[in-house]
Amino acid sequence: MLELSGVSVAIAGVPVLRNVSLKVPAGGRVALIGRNGAGKTTTLRTLMGLVPATTGKVVIDGEDETRLPPHHRPRHGIGYAPEDRRLFGSFTVEDNMLLPAQVLRLSEQEIAERLARVYGLLPELKELAPRKAAGLSGGQGKMVALGRALMVGTKAVLLDEPFQGLAPALALRYAEALKRLRAALPDVAILITESNPELLRPLVEQTYVIERGEIAPD
Ligand SMILES: Nc1ncnc2c1ncn2[C@@H]1O[C@H](COP(=O)(O)OP(=O)(O)OP(=O)(O)O)[C@@H](O)[C@H]1O
Ligand SMILES: [Mg+2]
Repeated sequence: MLELSGVSVAIAGVPVLRNVSLKVPAGGRVALIGRNGAGKTTTLRTLMGLVPATTGKVVIDGEDETRLPPHHRPRHGIGYAPEDRRLFGSFTVEDNMLLPAQVLRLSEQEIAERLARVYGLLPELKELAPRKAAGLSGGQGKMVALGRALMVGTKAVLLDEPFQGLAPALALRYAEALKRLRAALPDVAILITESNPELLRPLVEQTYVIERGEIAPD
């Protein structure tokens, strides 16, 4: 479903990723583990087309997307929850979730169905729906970012350090939500980054470790 092969990325002339290859099969649950600055976010941004690969290939759903701009990804059913969430503070939670689906010009009916599905999976979001995003706690914001990614991510979602900074009770709820997701939407692939491998072990089938921009050998 998602594949990087031999990807290197340099930002402002500084090598950030070196020869990174990883695969997330359709419906697969894969973790990308690494310390601060290891290259996790850059890897996800490269998959999303937000950072150009200097060398190597980005293949999404069997198509070479290396040179295609980021707005092609949602068309492939790929959702992205960035580590900084990027919600619009003056919009309600629900409007934040609707926005990417509206940008894709999905039909009203399709959008309503997807929203109902997301609320079914993440009932917390239904309660938060009318609130302004600016007033959310960090953990609530992460849930909204997950819901928003699921609105467009019908085939895959990329989650960047969703557990970072969550209080233990919220982290548990988030992990439960991911388990429900796996049961309810078995075809949606998940690539999730984290610095602590223990958190993700029960949630994924495969783990890659990234160190200083390189995938570590098993
Ligand atoms: N826009 C940028 N300009 C300069 N350097 C960058 C930029 N983005 C990333 N880097 C550098 O690339 C390296 C990898 O960064 P990246 O954000 O991908 O790591 P990360 O694993 O997501 O780290 P964190 O755990 O802090 O989120 C770091 O050394 C970082 O300083
Ligand atoms: Mg990061």
